Amino acid sequence: MKKEKLWGGRFSASAEKALEEFSCSLHFDKRLAAYDLRGSWAHAKTLAKAEVLSADELRQIIDGLKRIRWEVKNDSFPWHAELEDVHTNIEARLCELIGDVGKKLHTGRSRNDQIATDLRLYLRGNVGVMQLAIHSLQDAIVRRAEEERASLMPGFTHLQPAQAITFGHHAMAWFEMLKRDFSRLDDSYKRINCLPLGSAALAGSGFALDRRYTAELLGFDELSDNSLDAVSDRDFAVELCADCALLMMHLSRMAEEIILWCSQPFSFVELPDSWCTGSSLMPQKKNPDALELVRGKSGRVYGDLVALLTIMKAQPLAYNRDNQEDKEPVFDAIDSSLACIRVMKGIISSMRVDRKRLAEAAQMGYTTATDLADYLVRKGMPFRDAHALSGRIVCHALERGCRLWELPLSDLRAFYPGADEGLLRALRPVQSLNSKAIHGSAAPQEVMKRIQAARLYLQETTCRGGPSVTSIMR
Ligand code: ARG
Repeated sequence: MKKEKLWGGRFSASAEKALEEFSCSLHFDKRLAAYDLRGSWAHAKTLAKAEVLSADELRQIIDGLKRIRWEVKNDSFPWHAELEDVHTNIEARLCELIGDVGKKLHTGRSRNDQIATDLRLYLRGNVGVMQLAIHSLQDAIVRRAEEERASLMPGFTHLQPAQAITFGHHAMAWFEMLKRDFSRLDDSYKRINCLPLGSAALAGSGFALDRRYTAELLGFDELSDNSLDAVSDRDFAVELCADCALLMMHLSRMAEEIILWCSQPFSFVELPDSWCTGSSLMPQKKNPDALELVRGKSGRVYGDLVALLTIMKAQPLAYNRDNQEDKEPVFDAIDSSLACIRVMKGIISSMRVDRKRLAEAAQMGYTTATDLADYLVRKGMPFRDAHALSGRIVCHALERGCRLWELPLSDLRAFYPGADEGLLRALRPVQSLNSKAIHGSAAPQEVMKRIQAARLYLQETTCRGGPSVTSIMR
């Protein structure tokens, strides 16, 4: 049976099939159903408070909404694409279930403030979900960092060996990145959690809707202060997309490092078979496809952000249908980010770290040349001169094919007569590492302090969460 459009009154011709298909958003906004129902529940209660609905009418509407919630949950809701979107589908079904009373629900409301509300509810819930996921990845990283707190490895700049660090320190760098991602979500939440409902189409409503009451029912912290702005802007969604893009940038960098580390020339880590895939042609291959997908999906999420920014650009106030295009990118950004966080957690908790190989690599590449310069500075030489002299000593060791601390003291004295046994000790990577005992540095005792602080942080930081969408509609 052909479904009647909710705005049919004004129209004498029915919509072109091509227009119906073109403008339909049901296939992606269906996922807002639970949020739409909750928003409708709060709106109905607000209408009753304004005496637009009687107590009995309110009861019938809420019963109908509950029934629909059950149908949606049980996959028995009769969706109709020609009804265009999630809002019209639910409203039409409500009227089907409870009759004419259902037609009163949309009083003082427009799909413009309705969709803005649904989206904010959806994003708000997902901020919490993302924060929980980030926390559990951080937890996996901290565990790894503690296990590997004394595992010496080379730190790189320009992907060239630079100075000795530990695997634990490297892992804790990832932790810090994620800490900022978590707090960016926290900031975004504050701007997401603001109620647009009551703005109606663009100018607010002539009915005495108690918006504070609606906000309380839905767990919003604030009311929007301008109806035009409230139905129109999607900056809160852009912001969440930007949070996802930054998070993905971090995950992609981590993925890239682990890809390098598990490649044969590095062999710093080994991935378990269960997180790798093979080649359809080369029988010997064991590939880190999951990590490559994380790296690849960062591009996709950046795309979501740019799409959203571009959708908003140049839209005059207030609502325009362009805004319908906001949902797929923001949903995709969240879905992709969550999937990637989970993969990274699986891989980081299960990869095997080859401590011997890491330590060997830390002995290569003259990573203590700076310590040599620092030693000379302590003896009174200006740093620039110390740098130049150390460079010449590195050249000499390169010619001899030995490490810095393997140079005979007599060779060192030829460059610097005051060289002593203390210098040979200072040139060992472990000594170099231990000497860096200031806040935030790579020394194991410092890293251990940071790990303890991280554990405290994980215990004390709470994830955002508004009232659950599935909570009872009374
Ligand atoms: N599906 C629409 C959206 O996502 C809902 C709002 C429609 N409003 C309108 N005036 N046509 O933005």
